[in-house]
Amino acid sequence: MTLCEYKPGLEGIPATQSSISFVDGKQGILEYRGINIEALAKQSTFLETSYLLIWGSLPTRQELADFEYEIRYHRRLKYRIRDMMKCFPESGHPMDALQACAAALGLFYSRRALDDPAYIRAAVVRLLAKIPTMVAAFQLMRKGNDPVQPRDDLDYSANFLYMLNEREPDPLAAQIFDICLTLHAEHTINASTFSAMVTASTLTDPYAVIASAVGTLAGPLHGGANEEVIEMLEEIGSVENVESYLDRCLENKSKIMGFGHRVYKVKDPRATILQDLAEQLFDKFGGDYYYDIAVALEKAVADRLGHKGIYPNVDFYSGLVYRKMGIPTDLFTPVFAIARVSGWLAHWKEQLGENRIFRPTQIYTGSHDAPYIDIEKRHSAADAEILAGMIH
Ligand code: ACO
Repeated sequence: MTLCEYKPGLEGIPATQSSISFVDGKQGILEYRGINIEALAKQSTFLETSYLLIWGSLPTRQELADFEYEIRYHRRLKYRIRDMMKCFPESGHPMDALQACAAALGLFYSRRALDDPAYIRAAVVRLLAKIPTMVAAFQLMRKGNDPVQPRDDLDYSANFLYMLNEREPDPLAAQIFDICLTLHAEHTINASTFSAMVTASTLTDPYAVIASAVGTLAGPLHGGANEEVIEMLEEIGSVENVESYLDRCLENKSKIMGFGHRVYKVKDPRATILQDLAEQLFDKFGGDYYYDIAVALEKAVADRLGHKGIYPNVDFYSGLVYRKMGIPTDLFTPVFAIARVSGWLAHWKEQLGENRIFRPTQIYTGSHDAPYIDIEKRHSAADAEILAGMIH
């Protein structure tokens, strides 16, 4: 490959050097700081994993206790942020609300001291602490209710589910939710992380960094796919319809949501863990009709598209887990953002360590020396087409 070869989507082109996470897409391996995701999902909490991602090693018991304490202390939102949220339209997407709120933090914490470790730590703590509160607050406010204040006696995930549903969650649900956050915390240079790094490289404030990443995660080809998976399962409607649905997708060349990945060419290891978590939830709280459709679809896609490396990605089973917890479909992506904040922050910190502003190049495909046409003499594109037709 020459340096100037253009690769749409920058596929395969290294955009940075990083020691935060590693993916082997052929073998289905994901590691955070060298530790495999299965071990972390089983043995670490989300905050412990976040500490690992951001500071590079697992915390001691004391370091973890201090980190958790600071996060508990910063969970509340300023009343002006809550007031701002009250003005948001109820019909607005929660990802847009989250992006606006994350950016607004920059107004309240405007000191920017990127070379001060205390500033970095405070920004990390504030973002990890407040993002879940923002998501839960918007959910209650759009229903016309006052937001619920965080509870200091509850752990990170239990507190989020409590603020969202206005009641203390079942311990198994809280534990499974926490594992979901760990699974979504980081995933190398995906679109939203790249967006965070580009923003970070300008040395702007960390709230702008996270806001830009939230905006990028919102798209249906990225974090937004988990919402669309549920809509797709609804549309399929029954196991009997799976094959005909797949036929239609293949005929129309439309993408099957929750399948395929730029890096994984086997089943995403996170999808395997999430499927197991979904089954644990169904065992305790009753099954989900859509799960059978999902399993049938996974099999049918493997038979028909397995040769292309199209298998379930992280979004395929996560929606079914969240649905069982009573989380509304349009909060699936904000929940993804709650988790991914830790990965974005890790990349922000790493970017600051050896920063150079991102400034890629382009291959120009336009014209040169074009004449400047006076405004009175210009034709619209439609007129130009008609004129061209008349000349023919
Ligand atoms: N359904 C059917 N075919 C697919 C799918 C799919 N979900 N994904 C890829 N393919 C096919 C393409 O049609 C293409 O086939 P072709 O070579 O015959 O033309 C081939 O596989 C390569 O696909 P690309 O779109 O070029 O792969 P890319 O790496 O650009 O896209 C992406 C990856 C965006 C994730 C894609 O697989 C997709 O759109 N999936 C559905 C959306 C989704 O689930 N997104 C969540 C991803 S995980 C995350 O972001 C957290």
